[in-house]
Amino acid sequence: MLNLRQKPCILVTGGAGFIGSHTVCELLDHDYDVVMIDDFYNAKPEVLDAIRTITKKDFVFEEGDCADRDFMDRIFREHTIDAVIHFAGYKAVGESVAKPLMYYRNNLDTTLTLLETMKKHGCHNLVFSSSATVYAYSEKMPLYESNPLGTTNPYGETKRMIERILTDVSHADPEDSFICLRYFNPVGAHPSGLIGEDPNGIPNNLMPFIVKVATGKIAKLRVFGNDYDTPDGTGMRDYIHVVDLAKAHLLALNYAFKRTGIDYINVGTGNGTSVLEMVESFRRVNHVDVPYEIVGRRPGDLAKVWADTSYAKKTLGFTAEKTIDDMCRDAYNYGVKHMK
Ligand code: UFG
Repeated sequence: MLNLRQKPCILVTGGAGFIGSHTVCELLDHDYDVVMIDDFYNAKPEVLDAIRTITKKDFVFEEGDCADRDFMDRIFREHTIDAVIHFAGYKAVGESVAKPLMYYRNNLDTTLTLLETMKKHGCHNLVFSSSATVYAYSEKMPLYESNPLGTTNPYGETKRMIERILTDVSHADPEDSFICLRYFNPVGAHPSGLIGEDPNGIPNNLMPFIVKVATGKIAKLRVFGNDYDTPDGTGMRDYIHVVDLAKAHLLALNYAFKRTGIDYINVGTGNGTSVLEMVESFRRVNHVDVPYEIVGRRPGDLAKVWADTSYAKKTLGFTAEKTIDDMCRDAYNYGVKHMK
């Protein structure tokens, strides 16, 4: 719950990252005070000025690691933090399989230190960046929040473990108000083209890969399998525009301020789009070619994944508004300007 002052102050961990930066823009646009933490492990310092240019507002930035107790303690001593949005964490599935200890150490340590510091300073409101990856395999779509959980890689397991930690912590303290947002596939970029997704090296995910192909940096897209049980045989996912996703965080914050307890909420559009549908939309909207070849399935991939979105609508009043065309247009606009 919130002791109402004029402007709530929100601590955003990992705020310079892809989803964090878009969420900070939404917070500033809605007159929240923002304290951002990032260690630039997977983000660039230029993002800070890009956010200031987009919003014409300023915020506090502190460079550091959320697992550093003294650093975190100082942040909470120097600012009256009303709520935290916790994005900080490693997020590459393949890397997590190769370096599991690094993932468990980092993602759990940062969250535990954050939670201990919040307790020490009497901050009870938290929105956590979880993922649809926490769900166990299911033949049937959509995925409901009540579906069984089960993960297949260390990255996903850190998300599931953190959800469990938050559950136990919130059960022990009746003042805690936590929300785990289970993202489906965030893509796109800010319409200004100033912030977006710029992964290091060769992208793992479909949209940044398409952008690299469309901008001539990679020769062709490899479509991982066209023999799935889907209308065109390629994998289907629930892509959500990052600006819609950022708006869901604001609604989640407002919800967290009004009640106590813990909720787990899907954030998607509720629609599945295939790889070839995405390629087609990208070509049509941006008037560029996206050469591709069909190759074998990627190990661990599922045929289809999409969300049931009724709980997000009921609890948060959230409905995604942007289309696949919007996602393709904005991702390309950012990629042309920024991707190396
Ligand atoms: N795909 C290709 N070629 C590529 C990349 C992807 O054909 O070069 C296909 C995949 O096979 C899949 C679809 O595009 O059918 C989407 O793949 P992504 O890698 O973009 O996304 P995933 O659904 O595999 O993974 C995403 C996040 C993970 C998260 C997972 C489950 O990247 O962090 O959703 O929520 F764990």
